[in-house]
This record gives sequence, C-alpha cells and structure tokens, in this order.
Amino acid sequence: MNIVLVEPEIPPNTGNVARLCAATRTALHLIEPFGFKLDDAQLKRAGMDYWRHVEWHRWKNWRAFASVHRTATARFWFIESQGPRLYAEADFLPGDYLIFGRETAGLPKSLLEENRERWLRIPMFNGQSRSLNLSNCAALVLFEALRQQGFNGGI
Ligand SMILES: C[S@@+](CC[C@H](N)C(=O)[O-])C[C@H]1O[C@@H](n2cnc3c(N)ncnc32)[C@H](O)[C@@H]1O
Repeated sequence: MNIVLVEPEIPPNTGNVARLCAATRTALHLIEPFGFKLDDAQLKRAGMDYWRHVEWHRWKNWRAFASVHRTATARFWFIESQGPRLYAEADFLPGDYLIFGRETAGLPKSLLEENRERWLRIPMFNGQSRSLNLSNCAALVLFEALRQQGFNGGI
C-alpha cells in the first residue's frame, strides 16, 4: 500500500504515520511544502527509530508526484471529510494510494471535485467536530484496506 501526505504541517503527525508505515510495510510519500524541516526533533521523536525501516519518498509538489504515480492502473483514494462515500464501502487493493490532506486546510477542493467517485469520508458523530486527526485517519483507512486483504503477511 501507499500513504500520501499532501503538504503535512505538524511533525508528530508525520512521525506517527511514518511509524505506521514501518509496521505495515507501507510506502510513504510526502508532498512539499512541509510545515517543518525534515530534521525536526518532534518528527524524529514521533517516528522514533522506525524511520530507517520506512520506504519514503519526497516530492516537490502534487504535480511531480502525480506525473510519476498517476498511471492507468494506479488507484488513488482521496480521504477527506464530507466525501460522498464511506471509507469502509471502498474496495481496496494492494498497491492502492491513500491520500490525505494537510492539517489546517485539508485536500484542495478542486482535487476532490475532480475525483468525487474516489473521495472517501470517515464518519463523525458530533456536528461540532470539523475533522479527525490526520494520523488517526491514516491508521483507520490503512487498516481497513489491510483487513480487506486478509491481513496478509501480518504477525
Ligand atoms: C485535520 S484534517 C484537515 C482540516 C479540515 N479540513 C478542517 O476542516 O479543519 C487533516 C486530514 O485528515 C483527514 N481527515 C480528517 N477528518 C476526516 C474525515 N472525517 N474523513 C476523512 N478524512 C478526514 C483528511 O485527509 C484531512 O485532509
């Protein structure tokens, strides 16, 4: 599987996701600009010594990432609140890309509207809540995808 963080801003979130990726052998794609430096202490602390077990890639912007990975067979899923489909209703396959937005702004509306059939939401149960934490969302959706694949290779 692949996790894509578009313009992440908060170091502990990216560190947590890196640790998640290490544990699940998931590739991590980080799309610039970042809200932190890659040698940020909080980023390292949250990812702990797992960073060296992560296959991670850095991209200058969305266009640079998409020009390499958006092929006819690649399946992109855009994870953002208010999507027309629930994440648990999607059929995930190995190698899919789970794409998450930045903490303050989310994914660009234009990207979501262009990909409405691939826009998934995680349900919330309190109208006062705007959104969930980014790293929680990554864990929820990734583990649903792995569950659908029978937790193949899990110990
Ligand atoms: C903190 S949220 C983005 C901010 C949010 N758009 C707002 O209104 O404040 C960061 C990312 O977490 C994911 N996310 C948060 N809540 C979500 C939800 N209920 N459904 C799907 N994705 C969610 C999305 O990828 C989002 O871009």
